Amino acid sequence: MTNASDWQGAVGKSWAQEWQRTDTSFGELTPHLLAAIAAEPGETIVDIGCGAGELSIAVGLARQQASVTGVDISDDLVKSASARSATPNVTFVAADASQLQPEGARPDLYVSRHGVMFFPDPPQTFAHLAAVAAPGARFVFSCFRKPSENDWATSLAALLPPSDPPAQQRFAPGPFAFADPDHVRACMAGWRDHSFTPVDFVYVAGAGVDPVGEAMALFRRIGPAASALRNLPEAERTEVETRLLALVEAHLAGGRVTFPAAAWLITATSDHRNG
Ligand SMILES: C[S@@+](CC[C@H](N)C(=O)[O-])C[C@H]1O[C@@H](n2cnc3c(N)ncnc32)[C@H](O)[C@@H]1O
Repeated sequence: MTNASDWQGAVGKSWAQEWQRTDTSFGELTPHLLAAIAAEPGETIVDIGCGAGELSIAVGLARQQASVTGVDISDDLVKSASARSATPNVTFVAADASQLQPEGARPDLYVSRHGVMFFPDPPQTFAHLAAVAAPGARFVFSCFRKPSENDWATSLAALLPPSDPPAQQRFAPGPFAFADPDHVRACMAGWRDHSFTPVDFVYVAGAGVDPVGEAMALFRRIGPAASALRNLPEAERTEVETRLLALVEAHLAGGRVTFPAAAWLITATSDHRNG
């Protein structure tokens, strides 16, 4: 489980410092999102949970007449995104999506790459986003399908000591919180006409001159291995690191460390009628 205070604190800081590596890891998903977004009208575009801003910038470059605002709850990520962006129609704002008050025109297109499954109260937040958007606004976002379809997650989990099962709660924010389409429909209060397109992509853990070193650096800072490693006593940490290295080396091929990954591309239309 990764909650809002994790993103506002250490997790957001790690993602901000590691943005080149997280861009690489998700990079093969971005063209699928851009193709889905290109099929939608929209001049006032908001990227929810924009992180370090790769998708916001790509959308801004593809739609130069549109204004694109990346919104994220982490100040550190908004600073990273702002520092790297030189795209005049793209701006970044630190805000919690559940209380977003867009300035100027109402958003007519929300986009997100894996940024919406961390809301503590998804029905409230989706209803709020519909209420502050233009009537008939569209949403295009990606999220992971279930862990058993995401080899990177199951392989990492197999290396780590078992953790306590999370407390049973209806909306537990986390990377796999939106794996079940029925649950997503229940979360998306204020939105209708959902479509779910499965996208299989390659999760690139490491590339470049030292792909194994890059993948180790990514997993030490980002995701489930990072949080387990932070909390383990030294002897156990060394053992997990050894197993992690063997896993990474086993996935090295063609100069990259890759894992099969599975996402949903989800679209929906705002049902909010009061404008
Ligand atoms: C998995 S990261 C994805 C980041 C980015 N979209 C990308 O693809 O690199 C999830 C992002 O959602 C943001 N986030 C989580 N809860 C949020 C909220 N309530 N409002 C705005 N952003 C939120 C986090 O700070 C984080 O940047």
